[in-house]
Formats: sequence, structure tokens, C-alpha cells
Amino acid sequence: MRIAEPVLGDSPPGRARRSPIGSRVTLPDFSQRSPRALADGECLHLGHKTLTAIAAPWVHLWDSMLVYDEIDRTLFTSDLFLQPGDREPMTNEDRSGEVVEAARLSGAFPSQRLLERTLDRIAPLDVDTLACHHGSVLRGDPHRYYRALRENPIGDVVDPAVYNRQLPRPPAG
Ligand SMILES: [Fe+2]
Repeated sequence: MRIAEPVLGDSPPGRARRSPIGSRVTLPDFSQRSPRALADGECLHLGHKTLTAIAAPWVHLWDSMLVYDEIDRTLFTSDLFLQPGDREPMTNEDRSGEVVEAARLSGAFPSQRLLERTLDRIAPLDVDTLACHHGSVLRGDPHRYYRALRENPIGDVVDPAVYNRQLPRPPAG
């Protein structure tokens, strides 16, 4: 089943974007056109918006990527900061305790070291909105969430030395 094209339609860009790993090992299964890798730190210009890619391996999957929209001060966080259940679309409420608990229970973040490395990357960004795949969009000071995940380690079950290695280049042709 190819799911990327119905979403992308025939729009001129029309190519799925993904992390360097994801564009090679998962997205091709869902896309008729070859996906384009978005390198760590690369900017994608969409007219009046620019999205910046932040590679975040093992936060929560090996090919995870966060995306930063500087204009709207919004960070699209994949599963990072997830809250379970059917929630309201947006909240200013402090959900940091719930975010830590959900991260622990889900097992979605297998390396505290790699998680903290991503927190180091996003901490300097000007953000007031965290848009996660699950739960409410979190508005307000994002540092309360960064702090909560540093001060309440969620566990270390993955050795970054093993899982953060680079893939070999595919053969030419
Ligand atoms: Fe998810």
C-alpha cells in the first residue's frame, strides 16, 4: 500500500521528506516516488514558512526527527512529550508530570543519553508550542518539559554506541 502520494497529491514538490535513515529504510515502502532525505539542520522552505530538521535518533525510534517552525515558534516533536488518551487539542496546563510518566510507561524513549542530547539541541530554540503526535498541543514555557525529562530519567535500555551508528552507503546504481 502506498500512502504518501494521496497526501502529497500532484503538488510540484510532491516528494515525501524524511530523516536520512527513514528515507532509506522505511518511507520507500509507502511512497511511489523516492523520498528525499532531509539532513540534520537542513531547512525546507515552504513559501512564507521555513522548517528546520532536527535529527533525533532513538527519540523515540532510530530514525526519529523533530521539525522546527521558527516563525510560529512551534516544535513538531514526533512522540516526544506524548500524553495518553483523548485530550483537548491545546492546553497551557503544565503536563510535565504526566509526560514523564507516559514516557516511562510507553518505553518509547529507550536512551536517556540520546534523549538529553536532543533536549540540548532544542533548548536554545525560541519555542512556545510543542506539537506532539499524541495528546494535546502544549503551549507555554517548554523548558518545564525539558527539565522534567532531565530531572526524572526515564530509563536507559539502548546503548547509544550500538544504535547511533551510521548506515553504510548503498551501492551506486
Ligand atoms: Fe506516535
